[in-house]
Amino acid sequence: MKFYNREKELHFLKTYVQLEPNSILFVYGPKSSGKSAVMRRVIKELENSNIVFFYYNLRKYATPTKEEFLRVFFEKSDKKYLLNKLELNLGVFKFGVEENFDFNKLSLNDVFAKINESINAVVEDGKKPVLIIDELQKLKSIYFNGNKSLLNELFNFFVSLTKMEHLCHVICLTSDTLFIEEIYRNSTLENTSKYYLIDWLGKGTIRNILKEEGFSEEEINYCLKYLSLPYEIVDLIENKKLGLSVEQTIKQWVNIERDKILYLISTQKEFDMEKLINALKLFEDKIKVDIKEIIKNNLMDEVKFLIKNEILFYDVINGIIKPTSIKKWYAIKEVIQ
Ligand SMILES: Nc1ncnc2c1ncn2[C@@H]1O[C@H](COP(=O)(O)OP(=O)(O)OP(=O)(O)O)[C@@H](O)[C@H]1O
Ligand SMILES: [Mg+2]
Repeated sequence: MKFYNREKELHFLKTYVQLEPNSILFVYGPKSSGKSAVMRRVIKELENSNIVFFYYNLRKYATPTKEEFLRVFFEKSDKKYLLNKLELNLGVFKFGVEENFDFNKLSLNDVFAKINESINAVVEDGKKPVLIIDELQKLKSIYFNGNKSLLNELFNFFVSLTKMEHLCHVICLTSDTLFIEEIYRNSTLENTSKYYLIDWLGKGTIRNILKEEGFSEEEINYCLKYLSLPYEIVDLIENKKLGLSVEQTIKQWVNIERDKILYLISTQKEFDMEKLINALKLFEDKIKVDIKEIIKNNLMDEVKFLIKNEILFYDVINGIIKPTSIKKWYAIKEVIQ
């Protein structure tokens, strides 16, 4: 599988993980912008460095239970850290616990003590531990004895690993931008976290990739205004091989997206259809809308519904809302016509 560009993002993240840990990093961005792909690339490019990546991808689990969380994060072994067999081609690690460890009697403090032991073992081996959790929001509904929210306690623990002890980087990826909003407003995390946006590809980058992939000037000029996500380029190339023109592929995309939006807004019962359309109309002649404008129009709940359903993307750090992709923007324009 080819990997396109992302020089700036790779440089940022590769540099970041080599600095002294000082804050939790939240990597966010529009649906399918390539957050996970970039992170995996960073790990791959640093495979011969002295960094030990603990990498957990929670995308694979619907909503993990407490038991699943423990099984995903820990493995019985005589080592304190060991290769994560679920991600063999990446060479990443998971936390090791002793054979006689009883997962059923575990308190949250035991969990954190075990993670600490593994991290310290890495440091004692003269290496740098980095903890990465992809789709962290999946842990939202896990509670431990005494009704302690795993996620809240994890955040406190992450603050101590980073800002207080400078022991280990913690990088959390999420495609759920309303979750990022929650985190951004969480007072425990004030002054303890950084945010990094992995956004759409720039026009210049897309043009260069298409040129390299052998698209004609005419094809490029036609499709450039619709493209924003890396997988769209992959799809265009594949379809071209299958005999579809760029016009046909793009027409299909916009049709599919338009029908998805129409289906969503016509089957939901929570909102007045007209107000949802009004929320979409804010994007009639601009692609980015300032959050202030949404509040002024009293359409925040409708916009949040569209964010939750991945029609819109909320960049809470920059205070703007935009469609999750440019092709989605064209679909929105067709819906409101
Ligand atoms: N730079 C790239 N070059 C080529 N393909 C890419 C690139 N970035 C992402 N992709 C492809 O695009 C698709 C979506 O990427 P990825 O899953 O990394 O996005 P994401 O932002 O993590 O998505 P989600 O919001 O669903 O978590 C994948 O098929 C991936 O292989
Ligand atoms: Mg992802």
